[in-house]
Amino acid sequence: MDKKVTVIGAGNVGATTAQRLAEKELCDVVLIDIADGLPQGKALDLVEAAPIEKHDAFIEGSNTYDASAGSDIIIITAGIPRKPGMSRDDLVKTNMNIMKNVTKEAAALSPDAIIIIVSNPLDAMCHVAFDASGFAKNKVIGMAGVLDSARFRAFIAMELNVSVENTHAFVLGGHGDTMVPLPRYSTVAGIPITELMSAERIEALVDRTRKGGGEIVGLLKTGSAFYAPASAAVEMAEAILKDKKKILPCAAYLEGEYGIDGLFIGVPVKLGAGGIEEIIEIKLTDSEKQGLENSANAVRELVADLKKLA
Ligand code: NAI
Ligand code: 2OP
Repeated sequence: MDKKVTVIGAGNVGATTAQRLAEKELCDVVLIDIADGLPQGKALDLVEAAPIEKHDAFIEGSNTYDASAGSDIIIITAGIPRKPGMSRDDLVKTNMNIMKNVTKEAAALSPDAIIIIVSNPLDAMCHVAFDASGFAKNKVIGMAGVLDSARFRAFIAMELNVSVENTHAFVLGGHGDTMVPLPRYSTVAGIPITELMSAERIEALVDRTRKGGGEIVGLLKTGSAFYAPASAAVEMAEAILKDKKKILPCAAYLEGEYGIDGLFIGVPVKLGAGGIEEIIEIKLTDSEKQGLENSANAVRELVADLKKLA
């Protein structure tokens, strides 16, 4: 393939991301993990599936970064996942150190890459990767809104018994309990769901979306979601690799947009070959603005904690 994507962390999200990238024939993949044999074993297993899945993408596993040199995209999933009873914020210290180290290693060998961050707590980890890479703000992007919106879309489709393909949804804000699903901008075949469901049912779906990550953790008991998160990261990577100019909700570094300055938070952006090519400012009602501001405050607190721990 003429494109290369490095996926750091060969655990549940990372390995599934590598699988989806390869099966869509978007790029060759370098899968990196600190665990001896894990990335090599998963990469070889994926390579051996290729004749049956009918793709010619190559997947290489490694414990070092050499093979990642010259990557177009670096997707960072390294870290520890949330266990039952743990908040995303509990992860902050461990994942901060992991994020700092892996970003420095990968960015040094792929100075022109675009970084997609997946590890939690997401918005705070974007700050760590931004600082550690020294990359421009349009090249450091957090994955959360695509996942949270996909969850909202799945719940809307189940509620109305319609195809998921007819659904569209926006979830803004930080990737946590303060996220801001926007029913006014969420549609089925172009019709806002505010015209299709009662206020009570919309609120129930919004609440389930906000708690979507926790719902999966509660069921799995030994880790967190990975199929939908991998799909979300791959949708972002595909938009960049194919220069699709796709509007997706992603964590982006804001400098005044939405009245927020110096903070990564989820907003609609245009994703193309240049990474974040535009931050889209949609009109919000006073209560939606308040929701976004509350969410920004929660992210600001976490970023301040990060600085204390650093
Ligand atoms: P996992 O535990 O299955 O995989 C994490 C992998 O990272 C492990 O294989 C581990 O060996 C590796 N790792 C740890 N330190 C490393 C280092 N220094 N260098 C290279 N690899 C290292 O976890 P999973 O389920 O894949 O989740 C990964 C991260 O993604 C977690 O922080 C999780 O909370 C987050 N996540 C974020 C989502 C989002 O919406 N942004 C959605 C789902 C997960
Ligand atoms: C999720 O939302 C764990 O953040 C992850 O599933």
